[in-house]
Amino acid sequence: MTQSITLPRPDDWHLHLRDGAMLQGVLPETARHFARAIIMPNLVPPVVTLADAQAYHGRIMAALPKGMHFEPLMVLYLTEGTDPADVAAAHASGLVKAVKLYPAGATTNSHGGVRDIDKVRGVLEKMAEIGLPLCVHGEVTTPEVDIFDREAVFIDTVLDPLRRSIPGLRVVMEHITTEQGVAYARAGGDDLAATITTHHLIINRNHILAGGIKPHYYCLPVAKREQHRLALRAAATSGEPRFFLGTDSAPHVDALKEHACGCAGCFTATNTMPLLAHVFEEEGALDKLEHFAARNGPAFYRLPVNKTTMTLTKGAAAQWPDKILTEAGPVTVFNPGFPVHWHVEG
Ligand code: NCD
Ligand code: ZN
Repeated sequence: MTQSITLPRPDDWHLHLRDGAMLQGVLPETARHFARAIIMPNLVPPVVTLADAQAYHGRIMAALPKGMHFEPLMVLYLTEGTDPADVAAAHASGLVKAVKLYPAGATTNSHGGVRDIDKVRGVLEKMAEIGLPLCVHGEVTTPEVDIFDREAVFIDTVLDPLRRSIPGLRVVMEHITTEQGVAYARAGGDDLAATITTHHLIINRNHILAGGIKPHYYCLPVAKREQHRLALRAAATSGEPRFFLGTDSAPHVDALKEHACGCAGCFTATNTMPLLAHVFEEEGALDKLEHFAARNGPAFYRLPVNKTTMTLTKGAAAQWPDKILTEAGPVTVFNPGFPVHWHVEG
């Protein structure tokens, strides 16, 4: 018996497309399956103003192959110099759907991010007033805090005080990786949500470190213990409106991943939907995949659910390229380490 499921076309609520040759190479991988994506602004230099976002949007649309349909949802990179009036104008333009908070030094190209949260209060208060979501990279950067604890410490010492001090601020906890993240998102009101990546549903820290170091499994926030992966699986497959897909697909060329100081990021744009079908089937929750990948995100971002659909069918072992060959260099596609039998139709 063929098993198949049809869902509204999915969206990706956290995606890195980069720029130039890399953008050109990776954009079709996302546009093939996803109708829309929240586009991360951590370019060099970052996408800080409405004008930057308009220009980047233009470059993305110019890189989109003819015949493909895709809507980039633009995001501004919050700096201590961000002007609340520019953020309000960005929101009013309809092009910009969120602002991203990177604690300075937390991840790739975050050095221009925020050191002192008090310096951005004016912007955050404006965002609370107009209902523009803040996407948060939730890790402290304090060198004394163990890298495996940085998310949990951020929630207690930064995120919770921030949310209490700016009531009404709509927050997306990006790429949560811990049971503490799941619990905090669950306990919030409808002004709080959390994205979960594909790879954090599949790997724990052993996959990165046991039996030889696997640079293609290294990302930030780093994958944690098994108990956390299981908490993420339970949250993603619960159907609860708080949780939705943000792949955090983050391409880096192999030369920079397989390096003495390797870059953080897993590239999952190519195979996310087959992988998610596999995970949701394992959890006996295939009927919840549409909530996670196609319904909960638009509800939080106050956008319509896509009218077109995607069908996934179970059959022979799925195949995808090991690498995407871009003009910037090869990018290794995330390898789950087990066979997957789900295919996207069409
Ligand atoms: C992202 C990147 O490469 O831009 N890397 C990652 O490991 N996820 C940045 C980020 O989202 O933290
Ligand atoms: Zn990211």
